Amino acid sequence: LSILLINGPNLNLLGTREPEVYGAATLSDVVDACTATANSAGATLTAFQSNHEGAIVDRIHQAKLDGVDGIVINPGAYTHTSVAIRDAFLGVDIPFIEVHVSNVHAREAFRHNSYLSDKAVAVLAGLGVKGYEYAVQHVATSFKKRV
Ligand code: DQA
Repeated sequence: LSILLINGPNLNLLGTREPEVYGAATLSDVVDACTATANSAGATLTAFQSNHEGAIVDRIHQAKLDGVDGIVINPGAYTHTSVAIRDAFLGVDIPFIEVHVSNVHAREAFRHNSYLSDKAVAVLAGLGVKGYEYAVQHVATSFKKRV
């Protein structure tokens, strides 16, 4: 089973960015932990991070061509703004889990809306970077191979 992990804008700064909100783990720590989780469940994981909305749309399109079976995405601030990323998921029809390090519902009102949540298989928010691992674990053990 093939899993794609996507991180959106500013998540390259994990570990140094507002550590009181997002914790001390770096994005490379997250990718290592998720790769280990995927591999021990017999799955493979590819990781992608971009600060650019269009690059994320392109990567979701590419996932279809690559035969990706499931996507774990932290869309960062694009969660709250991006119809384009929503439409990309609808366009490729690949099941995905939405992850947020922080509990977005306990923060500013503008973080309460997500353009993705109603299309996601599941949404994890507020579990810190562990949320990524739980999401990858679920995809690896519960999602179906698509081809
Ligand atoms: C975030 C929450 C978003 O509101 C914010 O813009 C982020 C990170 C999180 O992981 O908690 O960049 O997605």
